[in-house]
Amino acid sequence: MSVEFPNLFSPLKLGGATLKNRIVFGAHTPNHSHEGIPGKRHFGYYRERARGGAAMLVVEPMPAHRTGVLTRGNFLAETDELIPHFRKITDECHSHGTVMCHQIYHVGGHGDQENSWEPYWSPSGTPSMHDPWGSHAMTEPEIEELIAAFVECARRDRDAGFDGVDLFAGYNCLIDQFWSPLTNKRSDKWGGSLENRVRFAARVCEGIREMAGPDFIIGMTVSGAEPYPGGLTIADKQEIMSWLDSRGLVDYFSCGTGSYLNQFSKIVPSFHFDLFLGRDDAAAFKAVVKHAKVTAEARVKTPRNAETVLSEGKADLVSIVRGQIADPHLANKAREGRAADIRPCISCNQLCIGRRMRDYWLSCLVNPSAGREHEWGGDVTPRAEAPRDILVVGGGPAGLEVARVAAERGHRVRLVEKTGELGGQFRLAAGQPERGEIGIFLNWCQRQLEKLQVQVELRKEMTADDIRSSGADTVVLCTGSTPSRSGYQRAYPHRDGLPGAGQDNVCTIHDVLDGSVVPGTNVLLLDDINGWWPASGTALHLAQQRHRVTVVTAAEKAAGQLDNSLTGDTTRERFHKIGIEVILASALESFEGSTARIINLYTGDIEERDFDTLVLATTNERDDRLSRELEGSGMEVHAIGDTVQARTAGMAVYEARKLGLRL
Ligand SMILES: Cc1cc2nc3c(=O)[nH]c(=O)nc-3n(C[C@H](O)[C@H](O)[C@H](O)COP(=O)(O)O)c2cc1C
Ligand code: SF4
Repeated sequence: MSVEFPNLFSPLKLGGATLKNRIVFGAHTPNHSHEGIPGKRHFGYYRERARGGAAMLVVEPMPAHRTGVLTRGNFLAETDELIPHFRKITDECHSHGTVMCHQIYHVGGHGDQENSWEPYWSPSGTPSMHDPWGSHAMTEPEIEELIAAFVECARRDRDAGFDGVDLFAGYNCLIDQFWSPLTNKRSDKWGGSLENRVRFAARVCEGIREMAGPDFIIGMTVSGAEPYPGGLTIADKQEIMSWLDSRGLVDYFSCGTGSYLNQFSKIVPSFHFDLFLGRDDAAAFKAVVKHAKVTAEARVKTPRNAETVLSEGKADLVSIVRGQIADPHLANKAREGRAADIRPCISCNQLCIGRRMRDYWLSCLVNPSAGREHEWGGDVTPRAEAPRDILVVGGGPAGLEVARVAAERGHRVRLVEKTGELGGQFRLAAGQPERGEIGIFLNWCQRQLEKLQVQVELRKEMTADDIRSSGADTVVLCTGSTPSRSGYQRAYPHRDGLPGAGQDNVCTIHDVLDGSVVPGTNVLLLDDINGWWPASGTALHLAQQRHRVTVVTAAEKAAGQLDNSLTGDTTRERFHKIGIEVILASALESFEGSTARIINLYTGDIEERDFDTLVLATTNERDDRLSRELEGSGMEVHAIGDTVQARTAGMAVYEARKLGLRL
């Protein structure tokens, strides 16, 4: 019993199993399989969350049928070949007292034929929201085939040792496409009345109950109201939940947010969405069910958030997905009174869904062990054989992580940072609108260094001579990168920079974010990084400060680089609302005096416009001065992160962890 989180750490009976607490690692697609088989990457990933204390894991979905294959990393469909591989995972996780469910999914009309090589089977053949194509209206025999395929998947799961299944019936996917009048236009026994529209779901559940008996958990992932007139309202969904519940067909409903119907970014909501996003819908479902338990999902990030939802009586369980990707030991740390040690997810979506969207395997910006547990032994830091004196130069994300890992390994660590603050450019990013969660992570890093007694020195710039005489056994250079002031653009690879870039009225996004330059009223922002955060976040920051902002970019759409992390559309929405003008498919030929010559890259037409200030959002230049000066010094010197190549915080943290584990 936890004094701090009494509701969170109370057990709950679900089907034939008892959950030791209320924390679920909900269904998601880490895309980890190797040629469709759950291998070492899966095993390590789920074992770590089981070790970390979650009560129940809902393992990466299994396509119900060959027409439901959605990603390159999906498990093979319709084969028993998977059973022994899953058995290894369920046996291992059970040994940690974890209840194991497995999602079975089919997105119906919104499939991906580039992966499945099959048509999309849907109730009525409505167009796909995933691509420009149509979908195939199922015949009755095909519907029967699909019901049998769901039950067969559940049979495989039972044989693989799972305690239950989680049927994907949210976000307007196959099961709820049957429920919704927007996607079910049938006039036979599968459409029309409530009873007809829920028939598919009911038949799947009945088939599973009959096959696996009453103890086998049947869960269902559902979502709230559909975002269009004529779509399912919350009351309609309540009626469906209640119908299924009154027949005892479902043991839990897990309530996510968003929809394939033009609300995709809300399915994995970034920091652009409120905390507790699915809480009220979960409460609405909880109000109408008697048998089934209800799980709240989406932006329930921390044990404190979870305790709030449970103590308000709005749900019986909480799913914390990204929170446990970021820290697999979240549950145990909370139970042991170490909630402050939980590494916080920053809701950036960059390396979890951001990688899944590109069909890579999932990892995490703040926790690079995600997806690499099988290589690194989990999210753990083994003690070093012989403690050494390690000097870390630079306190950005790379420096903070390598210092933390090295100190946890037992080394004596000194971290020297030339500015007055830790965090580097990531600290500036935290100052952009709505990106404050980055600051929570940086503060966590800082607290961990204090706890580990890392010697931190601020406002000290190290020279190569200082380093040579430092007495350190090992030096890690994390000096990062600096903004380029040349105005180099990819549209002009033959030019070193922009004519006019040296003028007083030209600055970089760093100057703006750190407050060293206050731009004039009318600002032109040159975005040569396809709308990545330094450009889009600074445009929003300036607009919020009441500057008139125009962005010129060679890209075809604003904030395009943010699309994979499901923050592109929400950023563009903000651009529109706040009045940021974006000039697409264009480059800046020159900025002389206050006149910008803007060239359209398709037509070659040039437009001249006047601005008070030009802000450069272009690719940084690495700061490798110390690396070069220390070459041949005979010292053990490592360089990581932007010091090697200007790029993202995620890569810096990854390289830092990898090096830290080797030191
Ligand atoms: C990489 C990734 C993939 C996801 N894939 C699925 C999925 O296959 N099925 C599903 O029901 N939810 C999926 N989700 C949604 C999560 O279950 C959850 O609703 C969402 O991440 C919000 O919860 P959180 O704030 O705790 O992360 C996915 C989430 C992530 C991060
Ligand atoms: S990549 Fe970002 S959003 Fe995803 S789990 Fe990690 S910190 Fe959270």
